[in-house]
Amino acid sequence: MDKTTTLEERQTGTSESGSAQISQEKFLEALNVDLAHEYGAVIAYRTYASQVQGQWRMELRNFFEAEIPDELGHAQILADKIVALGGVPTTQASPVKQGRDAREMLRNALEDEIETIERYVLRRKQAEQLGHYGLAVEFDDLIRDESNHRDEINQILKRWDTG
Ligand SMILES: [Fe+2]
Ligand SMILES: [Fe+2]
Repeated sequence: MDKTTTLEERQTGTSESGSAQISQEKFLEALNVDLAHEYGAVIAYRTYASQVQGQWRMELRNFFEAEIPDELGHAQILADKIVALGGVPTTQASPVKQGRDAREMLRNALEDEIETIERYVLRRKQAEQLGHYGLAVEFDDLIRDESNHRDEINQILKRWDTG
């Protein structure tokens, strides 16, 4: 281990060199943060689908609802792996941002997808460092799915004003 890394870097595995290794315990805590956010995403998309108003309601309602099975699938992968690694999966969802209108809902969702991708890129690296190669590959699928979600929301928001 690189002696120049700080304690915090060693705990969180955030060193840019990638030489810092996270402990198994901290890794399980981090996976539970990820799981809480997947549950949060399920609640957010369900809430937005019900609340969205305006001329694009039906389209956006269908769009938000279509995300739910993906996010639930991600939660399943994470919960199964947490148990397999000897941990206890959280039953708490991360807080859900309120959206006052369709655009704010989409912006919130976009922000969350981008943040999730960043966490999964780091988590993939940490999984490899700990020798959990199968889990690292699972994160490839999660990163692909969340990137597609991000791209779709981006496309909707791009032409928001001009139609
Ligand atoms: Fe997800
Ligand atoms: Fe997503």
